[in-house]
Amino acid sequence: MDYQPLIARWRGSELDRWAQQLEQQIGKGLDQKRYGDLARWLQALEELPPVQADAIHLNSARVGASTATPLPTATAQQLHTTLGKLHPWRKGPFDLFGVHIDTEWRSDWKWNRLQTQIDSLQGRRVLDVGCGSGYHCWRMLGDGAKEVIGIDPTPLFVVQFWALQKYLQQDNVWVLPLPMEQVPAKLQALDTVFSMGVLYHRRSPLDHLQELKDCLRPGGQLVLETLVIEGALGDTLLPEGRYARMGNVWFLPSTDTLLSWLRKLGFVDEQLVDICVTTTEEQRSTDWMTFHSLKNFLDPEDASKTIEGYPAPRRAIVTARLPGDWSPVE
Ligand SMILES: C[S@@+](CC[C@H](N)C(=O)[O-])C[C@H]1O[C@@H](n2cnc3c(N)ncnc32)[C@H](O)[C@@H]1O
Repeated sequence: MDYQPLIARWRGSELDRWAQQLEQQIGKGLDQKRYGDLARWLQALEELPPVQADAIHLNSARVGASTATPLPTATAQQLHTTLGKLHPWRKGPFDLFGVHIDTEWRSDWKWNRLQTQIDSLQGRRVLDVGCGSGYHCWRMLGDGAKEVIGIDPTPLFVVQFWALQKYLQQDNVWVLPLPMEQVPAKLQALDTVFSMGVLYHRRSPLDHLQELKDCLRPGGQLVLETLVIEGALGDTLLPEGRYARMGNVWFLPSTDTLLSWLRKLGFVDEQLVDICVTTTEEQRSTDWMTFHSLKNFLDPEDASKTIEGYPAPRRAIVTARLPGDWSPVE
């Protein structure tokens, strides 16, 4: 997990301010004293068998790599067993040389819902906040992004990204072990910023939106995906206890409320791109994520409610831009 090439590339660029802090941030985000299981995950990363990919797949539902001829059985088994040590795999799916990592989420469905609705990623520098294993980062690269930076404070997901990177070997996609709060203030250097599945985890959603805005260049685009409720302008649910068994859920706005938050902060061209109720086909337990999943978090008598009696998870995707004309940086 060598971040030096990225730090070197950013030195002297518009991201120099971040480059200066990155080494220390990474040390903190991957601190083995803080994260007791990290040594075990890093050991698994070491144990992954060497395989030279003949083709890499960024534009298919199962992101991954393949060889022209099947792997020897023993190598395939070693790959399968070692990847299994990085359980739970939540965001995917991936396929490495015939090993299908059937993740908890069909993250490709979310990608399909937004891919044609956003500004082209061709030549753009992209930030994916709360990227998990980095599944969507690979898809963004597949859609032509010049550089993709994912950030996520959960070290297991960062290690999962590096397991993919061992075989896909792309030097313009990175997942950094840090939360949004550690991205330097007012970077104004990203062309597109994604925040998907993060807003409802933030106690102050408007501060999160402001932080996302401050990362963007003039005319840059925000792609935001979050839990919402049905309702009118001004309606917002603040679950008192848990929501779908999650303890860290704060504000679920109606879509009109969400769009008004964006306007209030000075975004323009705000648009609702998609809205859907999450199904137990999209989020479910699998061999690669054996813990409870959505089915267990819904009222067994009435799937339109969570186990706590709140409206079942409904997700919206919205886009918005910063005022100004966007043009590519040469
Ligand atoms: C529901 S998952 C969404 C993953 C992915 N973006 C997607 O849409 O499939 C939320 C992710 O946000 C990360 N996260 C939580 N708090 C965060 C923060 N303050 N900054 C950045 N990421 C955060 C979690 O570790 C988790 O991987």
